[in-house]
Amino acid sequence: MCGIIGYAGARQAAPIILEGLAALEYRGYDSAGIAVLDADGIPAVHKKSGKLVNLAAALQGSLPEGVTGVGHTRWATHGAPTDFNAHPHTDCDNQIIVVHNGIVENYVQIKEDLISQGHEFTSQTDAECIPHMIESYIEQEYSFEEAVRASAREIKGANAVVAISTRDPGKLVAFRLGNAGGLVVGYGQDELFLASDLPALLPHTQEVAYLAGGEMVTLDNHSANYFTLDGMSVTKTPMHVAYDALSAAKGEYKHFMLKEIHEQPEAIINSLRGRVSFNDLKVVLDEFQISDADIARIDRVVFLGMGTSFNAAMVARNWMESLARLPSEFDNSSEFRYRDPVIDENTLVVSLSQSGETADTLAAMEKAQENGALQLTLCNYPGTQTTRIADHTMLLRAGLEIGVASSKTFTNSLISLYLLAIDIGTRRGVLEESRRRDMFAELARLPDLLGQALADESQYEVLAQKFGRRSDFLYLGRGINFPLAMEGALKLKELSYIHAEGYPAAEMKHGPISLIDDEMPVVALMPRDDLYEKMLSNVNEVKARGGTVIAVATEGNEDIKKRVDEVIYVPEVSSLINPVLMAVPMQLLAYHIALWRGCDIDQPRNLAKSVTVE
Ligand code: AGP
Repeated sequence: MCGIIGYAGARQAAPIILEGLAALEYRGYDSAGIAVLDADGIPAVHKKSGKLVNLAAALQGSLPEGVTGVGHTRWATHGAPTDFNAHPHTDCDNQIIVVHNGIVENYVQIKEDLISQGHEFTSQTDAECIPHMIESYIEQEYSFEEAVRASAREIKGANAVVAISTRDPGKLVAFRLGNAGGLVVGYGQDELFLASDLPALLPHTQEVAYLAGGEMVTLDNHSANYFTLDGMSVTKTPMHVAYDALSAAKGEYKHFMLKEIHEQPEAIINSLRGRVSFNDLKVVLDEFQISDADIARIDRVVFLGMGTSFNAAMVARNWMESLARLPSEFDNSSEFRYRDPVIDENTLVVSLSQSGETADTLAAMEKAQENGALQLTLCNYPGTQTTRIADHTMLLRAGLEIGVASSKTFTNSLISLYLLAIDIGTRRGVLEESRRRDMFAELARLPDLLGQALADESQYEVLAQKFGRRSDFLYLGRGINFPLAMEGALKLKELSYIHAEGYPAAEMKHGPISLIDDEMPVVALMPRDDLYEKMLSNVNEVKARGGTVIAVATEGNEDIKKRVDEVIYVPEVSSLINPVLMAVPMQLLAYHIALWRGCDIDQPRNLAKSVTVE
């Protein structure tokens, strides 16, 4: 959840660290800090509550000098977002400096032991026990590196830590425990970097190596050496990542999220490239090459995810049932991990996580692994933790997504899941060629149709002016569009801080209907499909009780204008692929309402892009 960066090289560290923190701020933004060692190893530590701009203002343009340093942007777990609780944290003598991401589950015991040894703490964080532990080992004549290793072995929980020491200026020592909280080493020319995530590294290098759970690394300006926590050497070859710094720039757009919403047609083309063979009407998933015997033995599919990824999982169940005729279900990873699910080697578990770091999804995948399931994961970044657990990985190919609220990773998840269902349905012999022909023709048109759905943004500005002051929204959908109602409500909540609920439309009569009045807009997802008439009945029920309805309907449906208060049109497509187009109005309505309300769109309050704690 927090963002970590470290630098060892020949250039001034502070500007590189601040720039890296800006790129990582989407991971957490309730406080930020930086520590740099000068040529004599004397540390300068600056930290400030609030966003990174507060830290920059506190530095007043006078950056600490030195070529080694660390930085941190925080998403609070233990201790309020204050200056004292901000990272970096130091030991009693300000000789050991640490930045940390995760939760030290046994910190109460560790802290009590250290206090009884005479250590003095200045914050309420769990993180502060780490520099003091390292200090206490150094007092017992351990080297800096050995002291970090010994501390790492004592800590429980999923954690990522980077430490520097005034006794060893020029060196960074880092470790990672458990699956959550990524750490990536970046290899530059006479300089090395460490960061929680790629966006901080990409302006400097595309050669990277990921630290796995239970590994540590020591690095200086020319080399990185990897070890297990037992001190065994680990060999790693840096890999080349294809994303470049330019793709992370906002360009003409006011927000990264708006840019990412508009990138969806291109992102979808990328996700189709090489996977759809229009000639022989087949999906070819190089990443999911399993034998016909393996396909035949799958008797059930379970989709797992959290938040937006969970909403995509809900859509996927419809596709897997309809196109592959396989019994399918979905679950929140956080619920699945604590159940006693019936999973065996004939179950295909498909997990979704754009970040590849979501703690609950990782734990759910481990549970599926224990039960012998075949696992496929969908993720936007190669080499992340989910990809290490799964048997197969399908990359989302959405490009960097900086906005904390997911947009293009959602639509690319949908497309990937759609292709998966077509592939399995074809290989099981239940998806006829004639049906595939129509589906493929539609897939070819989809990027263009998405472009059309994105064309008229002014209608959302008008709706934002009309409804931006409201405090509650209800989103209704049926069948394959019910998950999109959930996604619409989630987007509105996280971007605009307006309370919103997504409901299966028929469920409204069983409770939420008592909320209907002229104050709460109802967004009705009602494309022309088999359930249109049913949706119309639900809309009539809302109107009969004085409610206000914003319908999302199929282009050309003029009749709907007479029945509701506002209409957003989406191009006509088959009912199965409708959710992909429906995503656009869900995103743009929430975006423009949030913009009208003056909200922080790319970094909504309290959220983080990667949720690496439970
Ligand atoms: C999306 O808009 C949310 N910020 C959030 O619900 C997110 O989808 C969820 O945390 C799961 O993330 P993941 O896809 O990286 O696992």
